[in-house]
Parts: sequence; structure tokens; C-alpha cells
Amino acid sequence: DWVMRDHIAEAVEAIRKQVGGEEVILGLSGGVDSSVAAALIHRAIGDQLTCVFVDHGLLRLNEGDMVMDMFAGKLHAKVVRVDASDLFLGKLAGVSDPEAKRKIIGGLFVDVFKAEAAKVKETHSRTVAWLAQGTIYPDVIESGGAKSKKAVTIKSHHNVGGLPEQLGLKLLEPLRDLFKDEVRELGVALGLPPEMVYRHPFPGPGLGVRILGEVKREYADLLRRADDIFIQELRNFRDEATGKSWYDLTSQAFTVFLPVKSVGVMGDGRTYDYVVALRAVQTSDFMTADWAELPYALLKKVSSRIINEVRGINRVTYDVSSKPPATIEWE
Ligand code: XMP
Repeated sequence: DWVMRDHIAEAVEAIRKQVGGEEVILGLSGGVDSSVAAALIHRAIGDQLTCVFVDHGLLRLNEGDMVMDMFAGKLHAKVVRVDASDLFLGKLAGVSDPEAKRKIIGGLFVDVFKAEAAKVKETHSRTVAWLAQGTIYPDVIESGGAKSKKAVTIKSHHNVGGLPEQLGLKLLEPLRDLFKDEVRELGVALGLPPEMVYRHPFPGPGLGVRILGEVKREYADLLRRADDIFIQELRNFRDEATGKSWYDLTSQAFTVFLPVKSVGVMGDGRTYDYVVALRAVQTSDFMTADWAELPYALLKKVSSRIINEVRGINRVTYDVSSKPPATIEWE
């Protein structure tokens, strides 16, 4: 694609010119925007970029390893991986209020990232002068536009505003003129795998908002395995009319862990185990959303696989609530 190749060449040139001989730090989350920003900046300046990947222990199954394989392994980018799961889970112990959980996760994330960035700045190299962020055009509009003036915050989102100033770094935002579709095309053109670039959105607080109430490692481990099965089957099942997978036919799909136990029967024994809910929605803007009419055969397969493969879960339910009045996430 010539247009895209021109665009990459131009963006690479612009980044080189802006950064010169200085170094750049970027917070890698595994999400599309930070991944594409990392790949683009790495293409432009190679080892002048250091990525910092904070693993809060609330990522999906194998997600941390996949991020490392991709960026450190395949792209040969410099990536510092910080395993902060003990810290996050420790601070979350005993906390069950959704907003309190979000504030803890968001606040810790900034603290850990800042500490790590300061380390990179001090020990790694003295020429670190830039903080790169995967801000895209809709984020630019959102932060200056009507949304921030809303009187009521329904859910507080991750907010990293002010970080460059606090770190004494200049801000580098190579995606700020692009829409999401363009960011995805750019990612593929830069060699990122389409499965990564076309992934459903994943919230900053991760599984923290998909485990209702108090977050525990045991719950996160069960949820990760159940969710992985749901996503696998969404990718496997295809709609006959369009040939598309149900993963591509839904805008967002995931599993929610409910910390309640219900009775079941397995073999000649009685079980008393946890419940999960499957959530799948279709939406164009995430402001309103319909629950997806997934085929029964798909639901059946997912349910039987989760109950048979994930010991500790004996009941699977399907969420048939639209937004509004329900939100997409359960917290
Ligand atoms: P709700 O649950 O409000 O979600 O209907 C709308 C969309 O926003 C995502 N979401 C978040 N994304 N940080 C994020 O980066 C967050 O704290 C957060 N909370 C919700 C949610 O996954 C859905 O796509």
C-alpha cells in the first residue's frame, strides 16, 4: 500500500527530526495505541526508544509474555518489564468498592511507571528527554471537548495527564492526528500481527473491573482461564452468511467473575463453586451497546468447556443487558 508506505516514511522522518539525538520513554500496555506508537517510534529511532511495560497482574492469559515476545523478541526493541502484581494485589486486598478499586489501580500505575521512568532516565542514559504516548485523534477531542465538562463521572478512567511535566520530559505523540482505523492500518503496515491490532478494547484497570468486589489472585487466575476459552471459541465460530468469526462480529466480549458460589453436580459428587458471566456486545461508539445474539451452539461449547476445564467454576451465565441502562463492563 503506497499511501501507507508514504505515511510511514513521513512519520518516521518527523519523529527523527523532532527527537534528534535524544532518547524516548514509552509506556507499553499491550493495547493497540501504545503498541502502534511503539512500533512506529522504534522504526524511526531504534534503540533511542525504551519501552516500559508495567504488568499489574490483571492482564489476560499470557498477555505479558505476548507483549514481550512481540516487542523485545520480534522487533528487538528495548523493553523493561515490571512485574508489579504483588504490589497491586496487595493494595487491592480488602477493597470492594468499584471506584475505590479504579483509583487504586490508576494511582499505582502512575506511581510505578513514574518510578521506572525515573530509573531509566537516571541510569540508562542521560539524554532521555521525551515521553511518548499513543494518544489518538479521538482522545485529543475528548480531553478538550464536551466529555470532560460532564457533571457526573460514571466511571473514572485511567488518566495520565500531567505525567510529562512531572517527569521533566517533553511529550511525543506521533498518532495524534489519526483515527482508530488508521492506527490499525498503520500497525499492520509496520508488521504488527493483525490479531493484535484488531483486538477488542481492554480497559486500563484490566481484570480489576471484571472481578466483582474484592480482587484476589485466585479469582484472577480462574477468570483468565475462563475468558481465554470464551475468546478462543469466538474466534473459532463463524457466521455462515458472512464467513466472519464471532470475535470480529462483536465489538467487545469478555468474561466476568462473580464471587458467589452455587451448587452443581459432577460425576457422583456435589460441587459448590464460582459463577462467571459472559458478556458480548455490538456497538459503533461504546456509548450505547446491544448485547450480541451469539449462536446457541457457541454458548453451549463455551459453557461446557469452561465448566469442564476450569476447576472451581461450575456455572456459566450470559449477560443479556444493553447499554444503557447497563454499562458494558460490570464495574
Ligand atoms: P462502560 O463499562 O462504561 O465502558 O460501558 C465503555 C468502554 O470503555 C471501556 N472502559 C475503560 N477503558 N479505562 C479504559 O481504558 C477504563 O478505566 C475503562 N472503563 C471502561 C470499556 O471496556 C468499554 O470499551
